[in-house]
Amino acid sequence: MSAYPLLDVDGIDSGYGETQVLRELSLSIDEGEIVSLVGRNGAGKTTTLRTIMGILTPTNGHIGYRGEDISALDATETAKRGLAFVPEGRQIFPELTVRENLELADYGGSPDSDSISVGEALEMFENLQARAGNAGSSLSGGEQQMLAIARALVGGADLILLDEPTEGLAPYIVRDVMDIVRELNERGITVLLVEQNVHVCLELADRNYVINQGEVVYEGTSEALRNDEEILDKYLGVTA
Ligand SMILES: Nc1ncnc2c1ncn2[C@@H]1O[C@H](COP(=O)(O)OP(=O)(O)OP(=O)(O)O)[C@@H](O)[C@H]1O
Ligand SMILES: [Mg+2]
Repeated sequence: MSAYPLLDVDGIDSGYGETQVLRELSLSIDEGEIVSLVGRNGAGKTTTLRTIMGILTPTNGHIGYRGEDISALDATETAKRGLAFVPEGRQIFPELTVRENLELADYGGSPDSDSISVGEALEMFENLQARAGNAGSSLSGGEQQMLAIARALVGGADLILLDEPTEGLAPYIVRDVMDIVRELNERGITVLLVEQNVHVCLELADRNYVINQGEVVYEGTSEALRNDEEILDKYLGVTA
C-alpha cells in the first residue's frame, strides 16, 4: 500500500463561470479499486469528472494524483500522468475505422504504465476485433462504448473515468460493458465509475459515493449502500 491514495479529491468547488456546481466535494480512490460516483440527473457527476481531468479547474480545494497536486493541470497534462476520461455519448471518430480509432489513441498516457497495444485491445474486445476495418459510425451503441474504453486503454490509462458507460444500452449489452469494466480492473486499471444506475454500481464497485446537488452525501461499500434504504430512496429514487 502506498502512503497516499491514487486519487485524492479534497474539498473542491467547481462549476461554469458564475455557476458553482460542486461544493467542497471530497473523494479518494486507492490504486486497484473500482469506486462509483452515483447520483441523479444534474447532481454534478460529469462536472466532477471534468474537474478531475482538468477540463475545468477547481476554484477551491485540491486534487492529488500519486501525491502530486494536479489541481491546476489541463487535460493534456493529466492524460500524460495516466488519467483517461471516457465521456458520456462515447465520442469516437465515426469516419475512421475501429483500428484507426485505436491507433490514434496510441500516444500519450503515462510513460510507466503497461499500455495495452492495439492488437491486445482488439483481442480483449471480441466485437471490435470482428469490425476492425469498419467505420466507427457502423458500430452499435454498446460497441461504440467498448471502443471508447479500448481507446483509453491503448492511450495508457492507469485511472479511467467512466461517465455513464451503460446509459441507453440494452440490458444484455450492459452486462458486456460490466464484464469489460471488471476485466480492465483485473488488469490493474483503477476505475472511477459515474452512474445514474445504482444497480450497476452495487454490482461493480468496491465503494460508492452518492452525490446530490454538487455535494457528497454518502460514502460506503456496496454491501452497506445496498442495505441503506433511506439513502437509496432519498437520493437515488430506489424504493425497496
Ligand atoms: N456547460 C455548462 N454550463 C453551465 N452549467 C452547466 C454546464 N454543464 C452542466 N451544467 C450544470 O451543472 C449542473 C451539474 O451538471 P452535470 O452535467 O455535472 O450533472 P450530471 O450529474 O452529470 O447529470 P447527468 O446525469 O444528467 O449527466 C447542472 O445543473 C447543469 O445544468
Ligand atoms: Mg453527466
